[in-house]
Amino acid sequence: GTTTLGALAGCAGQLPGTDDGGGREVSPRPTVTAEPDTSVSLTAASGTIRPTPDTSTTNWMYEGQFPGPELRVQEGDVLSVELTNDLQEETTIHWHGVPVPNPVDGVPNVTQDPIASGNTFTYTFRAEPAGTYFYHSHVGLQLDRGLLGPLIVEEREPHVEYDREYVVVVDDYLPGEPKLPSDGGRGGGMGGRGGMMGDVRPPYEGLLINGRLPENPQTFDVTEGERVRFRFVNASSATVFGVRIAGHEMTVTHTDGRPVEPVDADSFVFGAGERYDVVVEATNPGRWFVQADALDGNEPPARAAVEYESTGGSGTPQTPSSSSNRLQYGDLRALSSLDGVSDDPDRTFDLTLSRGRGEYVWTIDGQTYPDADPLNIRPGEHVRIRMTNQSPVVHPMHLHGHFFQVGNAVKDTVIVPGHRGQVTIDFHADNPGRWLFHCHNLYHLDAGMARVVRYV
Ligand code: C2O
Ligand code: CU
Repeated sequence: GTTTLGALAGCAGQLPGTDDGGGREVSPRPTVTAEPDTSVSLTAASGTIRPTPDTSTTNWMYEGQFPGPELRVQEGDVLSVELTNDLQEETTIHWHGVPVPNPVDGVPNVTQDPIASGNTFTYTFRAEPAGTYFYHSHVGLQLDRGLLGPLIVEEREPHVEYDREYVVVVDDYLPGEPKLPSDGGRGGGMGGRGGMMGDVRPPYEGLLINGRLPENPQTFDVTEGERVRFRFVNASSATVFGVRIAGHEMTVTHTDGRPVEPVDADSFVFGAGERYDVVVEATNPGRWFVQADALDGNEPPARAAVEYESTGGSGTPQTPSSSSNRLQYGDLRALSSLDGVSDDPDRTFDLTLSRGRGEYVWTIDGQTYPDADPLNIRPGEHVRIRMTNQSPVVHPMHLHGHFFQVGNAVKDTVIVPGHRGQVTIDFHADNPGRWLFHCHNLYHLDAGMARVVRYV
C-alpha cells in the first residue's frame, strides 16, 4: 500500500497513514478549516441550580444551564464551539461519540493541553454522522459537577417517522465537590452498598431527568396519535439506569446514535455514556411517567412525565409496571454494519478489567492510567478488543474517535457485566491519533481505568 504522513497538532506528532487493504486511504483527519455553519460560545463557570423550586445548590455549568445548552446541527454541518474557562481550574470539552479529528477530542494531556482558568479554546469539527451525542468536560470529576450537555446531529433522512421529539438527559446528582474515596469522598470505605461491592458509586442525593429531581418532573406535551421520538442520554457519572415509559411500548431506533432495525421493548438498560433513541406512539391518553431507575442504587427513580389528555388531567402520572420485555444487546441490529471489520481481525487485545488490591484504583490488565502502556495499532487495521471483567460491578467501556461493532450492533459505549462478564468489540482503525479507551464510570476512570489507543 501507499504511505502518507500527516501531522497532528498537539502531542500526537507525525502519524503514518496507510492503505487499509480495501484500497481506502487511512490518514489523520485534517483539522476543519471551513467556515462554520454553526458557531457557539460556551462559558464554563460556577453557578446556582434549582433541582426543585425550593432547593438550590452550587453547580459547575455551561452558560449557567444544567444540563448545558442543547447543541443541535444538521449532519455534515461544521460546528465551531468557543469554550471560555471561567472556572478556577483547568478544563476541556469532549464530544462524546463523535469521531472528530484527534486534536479537538478534548482529552487533557493526550489530544490537547488543558485549558487554563481564564483562557479560551475553539473546537471545530464536521458534525457527522447524525446521531444523539453529548458533550462534557474530560478533566477529573468535573462531569459530576454538572459540566455536560446534549449534542444532537439531525439526520437529513431519518429511517423512522416521527412528529416531534424530546431530549431526555438522565443524570445522578451530587451536590458539592465529588471526590474519590482515596481523597475522602463519600462513596467508598465503610458501610452501604459501596463498601460491600468494592465500588465507589456515591450515595447520590437524587436522580435527575433534564436537571430536575423526581418531585419536580418536567412534562413532555404530546398530542394523541403522534409518534414521539425520545433521545435518551445517560450523562451520569456512575449510574446504570433501567428506563420505561408507563402505558407505552417503545420502539428502539438507535443505540449510541447509530440507527438499528426498529425493535420493540418495554424497557432498556443503559450505562454512563450510552444513548438510546426510541419512538412511542401516543395512543393511550393520560399522564404517564417516563422513569429511569438506578439498577445499582436505591434512590427514588428519575422522572419526567408524558401528558396528553382527554380527561382533564391533574392527577399523579402513572408509574410503569414491571418490565417483561427488556431490550438486550442481542436484539440490536445495526442498519449498516461497520466497514473494515470482518471475522478475522488484524490485531487482538485481551484485556482484564479489575479493581486494584489495597488502595482505591481500577485497572486494565493490572495497569492504572496514566501510568499505563498504550494499545498500539496501525492505520487501516481491523482491531478486536476482548474484555473480561474480574470485578463484581459493571464497567461501561467507551472508545473515543471510532464506532465499534458489538454483536450485530454498532456503538461507542458498551456495558461489560460484572462477575467475569465478557464483551468483544471490533473496530476499523480509520481515524489516526491518540484516543482514550476507558470506563465511563467517572470514578473508575479517575482511579485509572483507561488506556490510550495509539496509532503507530
Ligand atoms: Cu464521554 Cu472519554 O468520554
Ligand atoms: Cu468501571
